[in-house]
Amino acid sequence: MRKSLFALCIVLLPVTGLAASGGGADLRDMTPDLHDKASLQNGMKLFVNYCMGCHSLKHQRFSRAAEDLEIPREPVEDNLIFADAHAFNDQMSNAMEGEQGEAWFGAAPPDLTLVTRLRGVDWVYSYLLGFYRDPERPTGVNNTVFPLVAMPNVLEPLQGVQQQVCGDEQESGHEGDGSACHLELVREGSMSPDEFERAMFDLTNFLAYASEPSRLKAEALAPKVLIFLFVFAVVAYLLKREYWRDVH
Ligand code: HEC
Repeated sequence: MRKSLFALCIVLLPVTGLAASGGGADLRDMTPDLHDKASLQNGMKLFVNYCMGCHSLKHQRFSRAAEDLEIPREPVEDNLIFADAHAFNDQMSNAMEGEQGEAWFGAAPPDLTLVTRLRGVDWVYSYLLGFYRDPERPTGVNNTVFPLVAMPNVLEPLQGVQQQVCGDEQESGHEGDGSACHLELVREGSMSPDEFERAMFDLTNFLAYASEPSRLKAEALAPKVLIFLFVFAVVAYLLKREYWRDVH
């Protein structure tokens, strides 16, 4: 029995490995840090400036994000809420309708509230770093973890232009798998590669927060709940002793 279980694990290992690798391309590791408020604030700024034209965060309100990320109301209203489209308590939705997006890009930009949970943070981080020049695509770019993606590389001014360079080993891999290829910067953007990676960390971090906004509060509450339970247990025990003293 134990042997067959072991055999099953061996058989399933490559399967789980494949599922986690996002269809062949190597994913970059990313571990969110929800306590890094500066990172989350920067992520929110990037999201509002570069992503919200197409994507929404329907289940997130500006006010809630501002409170959780400790951004005072004024800078949010002055810098992050544009024109009259939104008020402080509004959801972070956008004006683009699904069909419009489809007509313009060939695919509707999905709501990103749960994207880090659906795809995983590693995938989202790798996706944001994975755009490269591909003249055959209508947008002029392709993506290492999302082949034939319909999204243009909106961060090109920051990142610059990357090109995919493939080595000889490519023949041994699956076609289009990209695992033997790497990306090289052929035109610089306004950020250095390190700065850009840091910015994409912040953006992914913010999306991880947005997928589970209560987590920050829950984590802050947890020690208090445990202390309460402990104190209550002691009180309950003393009470029990008091009540049962005469019974025995
Ligand atoms: C010009 C419009 C536009 C902008 C701006 C834009 N996107 Fe997109 N995005 C799209 C479209 C269209 C898709 C759907 C791609 C497809 O299905 O081929 C997409 C897909 C995605 C996906 C994959 C979702 C999934 O699970 O399939 C992620 C993640 C994403 N975008 C993140 C971002 C982030 C982060 C930004 C800001 C830096 C951003 N996008 C800015 C148009 C846009």
